[in-house]
Amino acid sequence: MALSTGSNKIKTAVFISGTGSNLKYLIKFSKLQKSPISIKLIVSNNPKSKGLQFGKIFKIKKKIFDFKKNNLVEKKILLELTKNKIELICLAGFMKILSKNFIKKFKGKILNIHPSLLPKFKGLNTHERAIKGKEKYSGCTVHFVNSKLDSGKIILQERVRINKYDTPRNLAKKVLAKEHKLYPKAILKIFSL
Ligand code: GRF
Repeated sequence: MALSTGSNKIKTAVFISGTGSNLKYLIKFSKLQKSPISIKLIVSNNPKSKGLQFGKIFKIKKKIFDFKKNNLVEKKILLELTKNKIELICLAGFMKILSKNFIKKFKGKILNIHPSLLPKFKGLNTHERAIKGKEKYSGCTVHFVNSKLDSGKIILQERVRINKYDTPRNLAKKVLAKEHKLYPKAILKIFSL
C-alpha cells in the first residue's frame, strides 16, 4: 500500500475504553505529513473514558456505544463507520471483544496494540503474569486483529527489560511509553509496503 497525503489519507477510527494515551499519540502522529492516516472518529464503550477529552481538544468526532445491548451495538458502530467512510480501525486500549462477523467486515483493516510480547501473555494482566513468570523481557506488540483474541499477524514488537524490582505498575508505565512510539511505527510499516 502506498503512502497517501493530505485529503487522501486513510480515514481512521480509534476505539478506546480508558485513558487514551495511545489515542493521543496516534492523533499527534496523524498530523505529521509522513502519516498515512487521518483520524476521523473516536469510538468508546465507556462514557467515562478519559481519552474522550482528546476528541474535544483535537476536534475529532466521538461516539459512545452501549455494549450492554450487544447484538445491536455492532450494527450501530458499523453504520457510524460507513457514515464517516472509515477505512481503518485502530484498537487502543479497547476492552470489548468484537464479533467474528464485525471483524470479517473489516478484514485486514483492524489493528490492535497489546502490552506483551505476543504470542506470550494474551488477554489481561500481562505485566503481572510476565513478572510472576520470571520473564527477562516484556514489551508490546502491534498486530492485525483476527477472530482469535490477540492472535492476528504481528506487525511490530518492542522489548522492555524486566528488572528485579519491577512491579506490574511500573512495568506497565515503561511498556506504555514504548507503545506510544510503536503504534505509529507499525502503521508506517504496513502502509509503506
Ligand atoms: C495499553 O497498555 C494497551 O496496550 C492496553 O491498554 C492500555 C491502554 O492505555 N490494551 P491507553 O488507554 O492508550 O492509555
